[in-house]
This record gives sequence, structure tokens and C-alpha cells, in this order.
Amino acid sequence: MTYRVTLLPGDGIGPEVVDATLTVLEATGIHFEWERFDAIGASAIEAFGEPLPASILESIKKNKVALKGPVTTPVGTGFKSVNVQLRQKLDLFAAVRPCKTVPGIETPFKNVDLVIFRENTEGLYAGIENYDERLGIADSIKRITRAGSERILRFAFEYARKHGLGKVTLVHKANILKLSSGMFLDMGRKMSEEYPDLEFNDRIIDNMAMQLVMRPQDYRCIVSTNLFGDILSDLAAGLVGGLGMVAGANIGEEYAVFEAVHGSAPDIAGKNVANPTALIRSAEMMLRHLGEIDAANAIQQALYETLDEGRCRTPDLGGNASTSQFASCIAEKVASILG
Ligand code: NAI
Ligand code: MG
Repeated sequence: MTYRVTLLPGDGIGPEVVDATLTVLEATGIHFEWERFDAIGASAIEAFGEPLPASILESIKKNKVALKGPVTTPVGTGFKSVNVQLRQKLDLFAAVRPCKTVPGIETPFKNVDLVIFRENTEGLYAGIENYDERLGIADSIKRITRAGSERILRFAFEYARKHGLGKVTLVHKANILKLSSGMFLDMGRKMSEEYPDLEFNDRIIDNMAMQLVMRPQDYRCIVSTNLFGDILSDLAAGLVGGLGMVAGANIGEEYAVFEAVHGSAPDIAGKNVANPTALIRSAEMMLRHLGEIDAANAIQQALYETLDEGRCRTPDLGGNASTSQFASCIAEKVASILG
């Protein structure tokens, strides 16, 4: 079977980590027909006058699945983030970020194994903002809807059940944000009654931040609204080796975009030193999404073995392998595991 997938290499280190990921995917023997769009963000503005050309959205809508590298977003001014636009235009409501201790990677904790579910389309990122110059007042509205809450909560509970995570923790600030966070909490509590097989608890966001850096092993599945989820998902990545190590997926009812969670790293772009682990693991998630479980397991095993052996590591992990050498080490193992 051949999978047709939209490929967005992005910019900065994007094309390098994408090439590395393609090397690893090739070693699985699975056939992909990539619909590749090199121009996105600033380069698409130059070529087509817009950062996210309609052809990209059409391709994802047709193929249902995309693999994406990072895209630079200008800070403060300039065009609207392509990443945020993709999530909103394709209604990719669930950001899923698994954070699991990787063998051989030095971190303060062992046995961290949790998945963060972040609502990706509303909350404080709904884009409802107003500035009254005369009064000197800036508003950013945190909009929470019942429909939006229902689907992210349902997604998290179903995922936790299917993957045997055992418990779900809902994160909120309902003591202060009584209406928006309150509704989210209330809906989560009610929904938890439908899942008697799962333990359910809730944490206030500030307490949760502390708990995660003191007792991360106590948590398996965390679900929250957009801003809290955004912050916690980077915090959790930091527990297991940083943004260069964790996978990310943006999932909607119809489409799914798998992407590295780190940025375009302009400081190391073009040097063939970027760590491609994050995108390789996102590709592993993509394979699971496509039902290619053996190939996904092989990539996970190859990655763990390579990192644990420590001979083939990129400079950020203290090694001297290039991006492409690291990819080749993993690809070789994948081929022999599946061979
Ligand atoms: P960044 O993740 O690009 O870099 C932060 C630091 O981590 C840098 O020192 C970088 O060298 C290092 N780093 C990141 N990924 C690495 C990797 N795979 N291997 C080794 N080292 C790595 O974050 P920053 O600097 O905040 O953002 C740069 C640009 O990326 C911005 O324009 C931002 O908007 C964009 N960005 C895009 C994202 C996306 O497309 N999903 C996500 C985050 C940021
Ligand atoms: Mg973020």
C-alpha cells in the first residue's frame, strides 16, 4: 500500500530534520508518495504573496495527513503564524504531546511517561483581541466553548482508555476564572463518570507546574485548555530532554498534522548538526495513526538503542554525529529490526 502524505519541510533546520526523517521512514519499507511544498511562511510570501498558500491546505484536505518541519514566525510584527493558521483552518483541535523518559538521556527524573492534550483552537488563542488606545486598555478574550471543551476532553479520555494510561488529570484555574475554566472543569468531572475504569483528578495550573517538576511520575494524562496546555507541554518536554526530543501531533476530526515541536533554530540552520529526534518521533506517531504499528515500534526501538548506546549522537546531546549520520544510524537499525 502507498500512503499519500503532504510534506512541509519548513525553513531553518526544517529541511535538514525532514531529510533525516525521510531516511528513517525509507528504512521501514513502507511506500510514501510525498506531496512536497517547499515554500511556506516567508518563502511562500516571496513566491506567492501569502505565507500559507491555498494549495497546501487543499493538499492536506485531500491527503488527510501531513508531516511538517518548523516554520519561522516573525515576533511582534509580520505575518500571522503559519502553525496557528494551519491548526485553525484545518480545525486541528487536539495537540498531543507524549513525554517519556528516553534511555541514556540525562535528566533529573527517571520513568516520566505522560501525554499532554492541549485544546488547540480556542481559549486565549481564539484571536479575540481589542485595544482601546484612549483608555489604555488591551483585552485578549479567553473564549471557551462547550463544543470545544467536549471534544478535547472526549479525545483525552478515549486516548487514556485505549492506551491504558489509567488516569486523567484536568488542569484549570477555576478558582479565579470561574466561568471559562469552571465550565471546562465541570464538563470534565461529568465526563469522568462515563469512564469508571480511569482515575480522574484535577489540578490548578500553578500547583500543576510545581507538581510536574517535583513528582512527574504521578501523572499519565493531562488535559487542558490552550494556554495552560501550551506551557505545560513545553515544561513536560523539558523533563525528558527538551524540545529536540519530543514528538507532536495536531489532530482534528478529519485531518492530522505531525510536526516537530521545536522551532526553526536559525542559530544552527544549514550546519547539519540539528537533532532530528523530535521529527523522527512525530513520524513514528504518524505511522501509528496510519496503523503501521510494526514500523512505528521499530523506529522507537532503533531510536532508543541508538541514544542509549551513545556512540551516535548529535552535538546537543554531547556527541559529534551530524544530522544525517544520526539518521543513518537509526535507519540501519530499523532495517535490521524489520528485516
Ligand atoms: P527554537 O526551537 O528554534 O530554538 C531554541 C533553541 O533550541 C536554539 O538554541 C536552537 O538551536 C535549539 N534547538 C531547537 N531545535 C533543535 C534541534 N532539533 N536540535 C538541536 N538544537 C535545537 O526556538 P526559537 O528560537 O524560540 O524560535 C525560532 C523560530 O522558530 C521562531 O521564528 C519561532 O516562531 C519558530 N517556531 C516554529 C515552530 C513551529 O513551526 N511549530 C515552533 C516553535 C518556534
Ligand atoms: Mg508552544
